[in-house]
Amino acid sequence: MTRTWQAAPSVGHPLTRVEGLDKVTGQARYAGDVDRRGLVHGWVVPATIPRGRVLSLDVEATLAMPGVLAVLHQDNAPRLTDIGEGTLFLFQGDRVAHWGAPVALVIADTPERAREAAERMRVDYLAEPPDTVFRPDHPGLYRPEHVNPRNPTVTEKGDVEAALAGAAVVVDAEYRTPAQHNNAMEPHSATAEWADGRLTVHTSTQYAYGVAQSLTKLFDLAPGTLRVLSEHVGGGFGNKGMPARPDAVLAVMAATLVGRPVRVTLTRPQLFPLTGYRTPTAQRLRLGATADGRLVAVEHTAAMQTSRLAEFTEQTAIYARAMYAADNLRTDHRVVALDVPTPRWMRAPGEAPGSFGLESAMDELAEACGVDPVELRLRNDTSHEPASGQPFSSRRLAECLREGARRFGWAERDPRPAARREARWWRGTGVAGAHYPARTAPTTAHATALPGGRYVVRVAATDIGTGARTALTQLAADALEVPVDAVRVEIGDSDFGPAMGAGGSMGTASWSWPVVTACHDLARRIASGEPVPPEGLTSTFDSTEAVGARAEFSRYAFGAHFAEVAVDVATGEVRVPRLLGVYAVGRVVNPLTATSQLIGGMTMGLSTALLEESTLDGRFGDFVNHNLADYHVATNADVGAIEVAFVDDPDDELNPSGVKGLGEIGIVGVPAAIANAVWHATGVRQRELPISPARAIISGQ
Ligand code: MOS
Repeated sequence: MTRTWQAAPSVGHPLTRVEGLDKVTGQARYAGDVDRRGLVHGWVVPATIPRGRVLSLDVEATLAMPGVLAVLHQDNAPRLTDIGEGTLFLFQGDRVAHWGAPVALVIADTPERAREAAERMRVDYLAEPPDTVFRPDHPGLYRPEHVNPRNPTVTEKGDVEAALAGAAVVVDAEYRTPAQHNNAMEPHSATAEWADGRLTVHTSTQYAYGVAQSLTKLFDLAPGTLRVLSEHVGGGFGNKGMPARPDAVLAVMAATLVGRPVRVTLTRPQLFPLTGYRTPTAQRLRLGATADGRLVAVEHTAAMQTSRLAEFTEQTAIYARAMYAADNLRTDHRVVALDVPTPRWMRAPGEAPGSFGLESAMDELAEACGVDPVELRLRNDTSHEPASGQPFSSRRLAECLREGARRFGWAERDPRPAARREARWWRGTGVAGAHYPARTAPTTAHATALPGGRYVVRVAATDIGTGARTALTQLAADALEVPVDAVRVEIGDSDFGPAMGAGGSMGTASWSWPVVTACHDLARRIASGEPVPPEGLTSTFDSTEAVGARAEFSRYAFGAHFAEVAVDVATGEVRVPRLLGVYAVGRVVNPLTATSQLIGGMTMGLSTALLEESTLDGRFGDFVNHNLADYHVATNADVGAIEVAFVDDPDDELNPSGVKGLGEIGIVGVPAAIANAVWHATGVRQRELPISPARAIISGQ
């Protein structure tokens, strides 16, 4: 086996993935690959009404089908503890909360026989008229107690109305973003097995420890009974985060019922109603500014949907709380509970749709003031977080904008819209800012020295394809002052103790703190002559106290996105030949995997701008384009040149590694940069995503 590696220091070097060989040779085992003697298979029977009750299930006929071992349903399922998460409270009554919700699970000896029996199962319902269609004037909209993740619903500073009334220039516009589905390549899958009084669940999750906790509470298990494993995960994008997903609950129920290992893998169409999606949003932006583009007022309000099962409230308008200076600033959210599947985390939740609103409105303000859109953003830069007044630990947005403008050749830009036509293409360029919170959560890690100069580091982290395992290997090797080949990092095991999941761009920032600290301690013990016994010498660190003791700062990563588009004058097809992202994300542990993550995020932003939209049939509350043929995700053919660059961002106020996290900032602002470029190309403002061919060239589509 060959791979590039560097002697210490390794941080800052483009180490290739430490598990890369395992992945490309098929040695890496994903949740659905786990094999067990006596393994049987569960298949979901989905509801075919959007709202009502299950009257009867023809269990007898299903049990008579070939290979069927059991059927789980509302009358025989174990009683669960209500943990306030309705998507997991399965088979606890006869209510149907949305189309596709599980009404039974058929367990059979092969997946094919389970599927055959599940699809033939007769279910009788009492249907009720559903309310499934989101609209910004829905009478059911209300202010939730908080928005995700426990952010205030409303913030208010100064007097927005008075400032708007006195402003020289006002932009008042509404923006819409559609429902979107995460669509990781690896579907959700769980295999549950009881052995020797312990329950092991292999599942595709971003958060092994959190899933173990939620399942333990749900099934009222004794602490330590449950072990969740997720060694390799084929993409997550948020809906494999906290809490567990229904496949894991169903696998545990089924394994308990039949006394054998059970696997439940959801099909692509089943992911759409069962594992989460990004809510549609309707946003209103009101900006007031002086004639030269200095903001005096910002108001960002957003309406979203949730389901009847759980209140999940996208934090859409929090983007404006931290982005541009304004003495008068108001943000507000409302949500409506509909007879639809439950929304959930999707990459850069809140920030991604919210940045489309604010960064588009900023472009409209630049036009109204006659100020260059890069210059407009520089004029409204600030050293303190506008909503809270707190200082930023570091904020290098201006450097990102200036470096981006230089690399992109922005100085040459003619600001007039619809002024560049080459053959059949209108051409234009656009810019947007970006930020994403740089948070750190308490985590425990263990570093063990083995005889012979080898080391094992254990932390319940997850690598959802980001390169986190590799970055942790580099950080650990440097802390131990040994080559990376001497260190093995083991992750994805809830038995390693409390740990943040791979979410909120917090993974590496959170995990590295105890990893580096435990490694330093271990190196010190070895240097002081402590012997390494045959079973190894272990140092453990729990970062809870250290994280809690940090100074009060507003901590964010920043970035700037630049886009070039070409719009077909006849069809309205939008092409994106060039995207540039410049980022200030603290220390870059591994420039190779960091760049790959940001390219992935920007591609998802492009995909959001032009293609992704989950289409709900209002009669059934069903997402009808529930497959990768009809739900369009950007592919290689849709992507032109994507360039990623970093500006220096030293920040001592974060964590010992100086890591801010960069999983999500790559998507933030990209849809606005592209929409702004489409306006520059065609003169048609884009206030609704995705920018379909009709919307690109026809106003008001
Ligand atoms: Mo990310 S949506 O916080 O997994």
